[in-house]
Amino acid sequence: MGSSVTICRAIDIHKTYWRGKVAVEALKGVSVDIVVNDYISIMGASGSGKSTLVHILSCLDTPTKGEYFLEDKLVSKYTDQELAQVRNRFFGFVFQSFSLLPRLTALDNVALPLIYSNIKKNERVERSRAILDKVGLADRMYHRPNEMSGGECQRVAIARALVNDPKVIFADEPTGNLDSRTGTEIMELFDRLVEEGNTVVMVTHDVTIADHAKQIVQLKDGTIVHD
Ligand SMILES: Nc1ncnc2c1ncn2[C@@H]1O[C@H](COP(=O)(O)OP(=O)(O)OP(=O)(O)O)[C@@H](O)[C@H]1O
Ligand SMILES: [Mg+2]
Repeated sequence: MGSSVTICRAIDIHKTYWRGKVAVEALKGVSVDIVVNDYISIMGASGSGKSTLVHILSCLDTPTKGEYFLEDKLVSKYTDQELAQVRNRFFGFVFQSFSLLPRLTALDNVALPLIYSNIKKNERVERSRAILDKVGLADRMYHRPNEMSGGECQRVAIARALVNDPKVIFADEPTGNLDSRTGTEIMELFDRLVEEGNTVVMVTHDVTIADHAKQIVQLKDGTIVHD
């Protein structure tokens, strides 16, 4: 213990978007290491590149320039199909908008990623129940998203992110659609997940996270500012 094991290493990442002939340099040379049991908070003004960085770190997108290693494998040159496999095997996702399937119960929403991992039905249900219980939703298993509060929906989304036992959980403004009290509860849940050994990378405007995060990545106009 004590020494930190690197999961992800992003080196001098650039991302340029093209709008017609106009280039938008969303990231201009960003380097980040994610270690086991890290708790990284990505902060910065709107348009500073936070979501772009999360997309690259979570293999939803590839950099224009720079290298990205995942457990020492260079993934920045992977094909879309290879990246999809990497995402399913390594990562869990939590979004501001929850992104739950409206016709499925909490239990089925959580179990969904396990279908793609070829896990048998009994085990899918068992694991999903256990994780819903862990996030405090034992009595909401059979509710659909429109039968739950925003905070409950976000906890279902967090359970879904956890169910595949991911190496890193990425969350992009997970409290953005919640009132402040519910937002605080969700942040406490993330704190607990890190205490239990999970690794979390979170975009947030919540300045109180500074007290909890192990690493703060402050972006300004596509670069990291160090104070
Ligand atoms: N698909 C795209 N095509 C063109 N430009 C884009 C695209 N996605 C993002 N951008 C631009 O890249 C820059 C960074 O965007 P990004 O979404 O990463 O910002 P952000 O820090 O997440 O902002 P917010 O806090 O508003 O979510 C912005 O100037 C944005 O307009
Ligand atoms: Mg964003």
